Order: sequence, then structure tokens, then C-alpha cells
Amino acid sequence: MVEHYQPTQEAALDRDCTTLSRHVFQQLQSFGPDAQDLSAIMNRIALAGKLIARRLTHADLVEDALGFTGRTNVQGEAVKKMDVFANDVFISVFKQSGLVCRLASEEMEAPYYIPENCPIGRYTLLYDPIDGSSNVDINLNVGSIFAIRQQQGEDIDQKASDLLTSGREQIAAGYILYGPSTVLVYSIGRGVHSFTLDASLGEFILANENIQAPSHGPNYSVNEGNFWQWEDSVRDYIRYVHRHEGYSARYSGALVGDFHRILMQGGVFLYPGTLKNPNGKLRLLYESAPLAFLMEQAGGRASTGVQDILDVKPDRLHARTPLIIGSPDDVALVESFIKERIREQEVLSASQR
Ligand code: AHG
Ligand code: MN
Ligand code: MN
Repeated sequence: MVEHYQPTQEAALDRDCTTLSRHVFQQLQSFGPDAQDLSAIMNRIALAGKLIARRLTHADLVEDALGFTGRTNVQGEAVKKMDVFANDVFISVFKQSGLVCRLASEEMEAPYYIPENCPIGRYTLLYDPIDGSSNVDINLNVGSIFAIRQQQGEDIDQKASDLLTSGREQIAAGYILYGPSTVLVYSIGRGVHSFTLDASLGEFILANENIQAPSHGPNYSVNEGNFWQWEDSVRDYIRYVHRHEGYSARYSGALVGDFHRILMQGGVFLYPGTLKNPNGKLRLLYESAPLAFLMEQAGGRASTGVQDILDVKPDRLHARTPLIIGSPDDVALVESFIKERIREQEVLSASQR
């Protein structure tokens, strides 16, 4: 009888060999064309993450890596050299890929088309190349956020109007966190999974599968310097946490870092509207919606205060929305303060009629 070889280290090696592209196949339980595409796309995003992480690691030693470019972007924000570099990296990794026909990012007024991919590339990448740019020059954590959508229609006029739909149209979303280690978190609608970059292998290796956000957590993450600019309802919530035991303020200036803490440990991140910006600061298509997709997949919630983020339809590419995201109980608590003030307003208006 032929004795078949049985690897002795199978479980441990399998885990070490679970790279991102293999994980996509496992999740989809298929090697069909859609699975091939998605796996290849994730592989390219991983390459972008490695290139950006490499530059960030040595940024202070590299000529022209840090500081401002002297230009402002379509949002009116000062652009950093690292924003431009990371924006270009994502374009570069998708050139000649046959995968992604359009890329839309925070740093570009209109989508970037890769015509050679368009006959076959049915996907669009939406991304925030460097999230938390204010942290770049001081060596604190930053991130990249991404979402993948399937192109709807031909888009002959290159207006990309099919992108102005809700976050429910996303087929994948995730982020890369450039911290003490480089971590990639993604979902293709089958749970949320994290991968850590093993620099010795040059590969993202599976670290945590099926991450579940706690139903409640101690962290509240918000820029309290804006207190004077908020609606009363948000101030009510902040007064509530100040007066109750068990809350910790944690705000890093980079959404990806704050989000990661809340995903793993629970709590809530808020960027509400302010007097200056009634819809807050964060952009729906490449910041709030991808993270909302992940948070819902992890059992959490994301809301504007009155509507689920994933139901919001943007009126333009760079539209902003207020964002309340995190553990379901904590998001519900913030919403309860917002709803209470709306009710009071309605009662007041009715009495004045
Ligand atoms: P970006 O660097 O992509 O413009 O995003 C910055 C965002 C987000 O990362 C962070 O949570 C928030 O802006 C910080 O804004 P404030 O400085 O207004 O708190
Ligand atoms: Mn950002
Ligand atoms: Mn950015």
C-alpha cells in the first residue's frame, strides 16, 4: 500500500501561508473569474500598502518625502508630499492590471481613468491615499482607506455618475494602518479580517479572522476643540460621558487609527457637523462609507445621527457626511441625544404654529 505523506506542521504553516490573495479565494470558495479579479485587486492594494509603508518608514531620511507641496486640493486642504506620493502609488499599481478602470480619490477633483484597463476592468477604486496627513511629519500613525465598486454602465462621458450611489453598492472595503506594524483590514461582505505585514516575507499574513466589535466600549473619539461649534445634541452626549464613569477620550487625528481602536476595543468615533461645515469634515465615498461597511460587517453601526451611513446617497464625488461610528450601543446612545433634540424642536415648532 502507498503511504501518503502527512505534513506534521500543517495547521501552523497554513496560517503562515494565508496571504491576502489566498484568503479572498477561501472566503468566496471559488476560483472563478470574479474571485480571480477580487483576489488580484486585493493583491495590488497590498502592494500599494507595502510601497507606502516603505516610504513612511524612512521618510525623514528621504529627500522631499515630508512637508507640504504648497498646493491645496479640491477640498481646500493643504496637500502634503506624502499625499501626492500615496495617490500616485495607487494609480501605478493598477496600471496595466486589466482590473480597475477608474480611480477616485480625495486628492483628485475628477476620477482618473486607465483607458488600457477599461475594455475589461469592470471595477472602480475609491480611496483616501493618506488619512490623517497631519500626523505624517511627526511620525505618528496614518492610514489609507479604500473601497471597490463595480462599474455600472459604460460611463462614456467620463462623468462617473454611477458612483453617486449608496455605500450598499460597495463590494469590498478596507484600510491599511501604518503604525508600529503595518496592518491591512478588509471585508468583501463576509466578515472583517486583519492581516499584518511580515516584512521578512514581504507579505500580509492573516492575523485576526471574523473580527467582532464589542457591543459597547469605553472609548469616545472626537475633536473636542470643536465643542463650541456643535449642535446642542452632540454637546449633550459629550456632557453625558463627562459625567459618567467608564469613559476614556482617545483621539489621534487619524480616523484610521481611531477606527481601528474602536473596532478592536469598542466605543464610538464622532465627526459631527460644525458651524463651519454642517456635514462635518469626512468624505462619504472614500472615508465614511468604506469604514461603515467594515463596521457593519463587524456587528457595529455607522450613522449620520438620523440615517445609516450606508444608505446615504452623495450628490457629488467629494460629498461629506457627519459620522458616528462604532459599537452598536454607543452609536445608539449618541443617536438618542440627537433624536431627543429633534423631538423638542418639533414640539416647539408645533406650539408656535
Ligand atoms: P485626511 O488627512 O485624509 O484629510 O483626513 C483627516 C481626517 C481624519 O483622519 C481625522 O479623523 C480628522 O480629519 C481630523 O480632523 P480634525 O483635525 O479637524 O480633528
Ligand atoms: Mn482622511
Ligand atoms: Mn487623506
